Amino acid sequence: MRTFSDPQKLQRWCASVRESGRKVALVPTMGALHDGHLSLIAAAKKAGADEIVVSIFVNPTQFGPNEDYAKYPRDAKADSSKCRRAGATAVFFPTPDNMYAADHSVWVVEDGDLSDCLCGARRPGHFRGVCTVVAKLFNLVHPHVAVFGQKDFQQATIIRRMVRDLNFDVEVLVAPIVRESSGLALSSRNAYLSEEEKANALALSQSLAGLKAGPWAVQRRRIVKCLEKRGLKVDYVEAVDSRNLRPVKAIKSGTAVLLAVYDGKTRLIDNRVFR
Ligand code: PAF
Repeated sequence: MRTFSDPQKLQRWCASVRESGRKVALVPTMGALHDGHLSLIAAAKKAGADEIVVSIFVNPTQFGPNEDYAKYPRDAKADSSKCRRAGATAVFFPTPDNMYAADHSVWVVEDGDLSDCLCGARRPGHFRGVCTVVAKLFNLVHPHVAVFGQKDFQQATIIRRMVRDLNFDVEVLVAPIVRESSGLALSSRNAYLSEEEKANALALSQSLAGLKAGPWAVQRRRIVKCLEKRGLKVDYVEAVDSRNLRPVKAIKSGTAVLLAVYDGKTRLIDNRVFR
């Protein structure tokens, strides 16, 4: 497995791989890798990629001033061996300085209805940071496919829109949420949770599992009650059309139900898409 930190060297290597006719996949991550990330590498393999590049970069531009950028878990050595064991063929560990020039001034912004709701409404500038870094990674790696996780459903929806609207030559795959046997969705931020907070966090997946097709308002009230009973502070509980993220009044095929809560100081998200 190759390791890169210099964006230009990565770009040159990826161009030579592409030129030789091999299929390149990109798995963008912020590290602190867990089985959810490894499932993205598995999805890249299943898609027939010959080279799988995993980027590991805690992207400063997608964190708000009062968010957890400084304390976000980082473990390059462990991440590197997890990538190797999972079948990645290259890892990319850039630094903020080699990803962003001191006078960086061009940003990629989704300027329609996809970013001003849900996490975007609560985390101003978050998706601007995500779109910008993902666009940069696409330009460095020029992958045939890029794999994202469904846990960040709004992110995946916005990236798909960015790819469509800016004509990025890449196929976006979205891999299903990976859960602990308890139902808890895997997240690097679960590392912040105490045992008690982890037990309370089960209310997210349990609430989603109990949903049925039909009117939303009454089910929403039930979920909010269930989350609050476990001491979770609701950030949002919303049912939306999975294609355009607009609120809906009833759950049916194509609906996504998305939750965000504070469990102590930790913000957790989860979702369920009705097929
Ligand atoms: O989902 C993430 O971990 C990040 O938002 C991403 C896509 C790697 C961009 O920094």
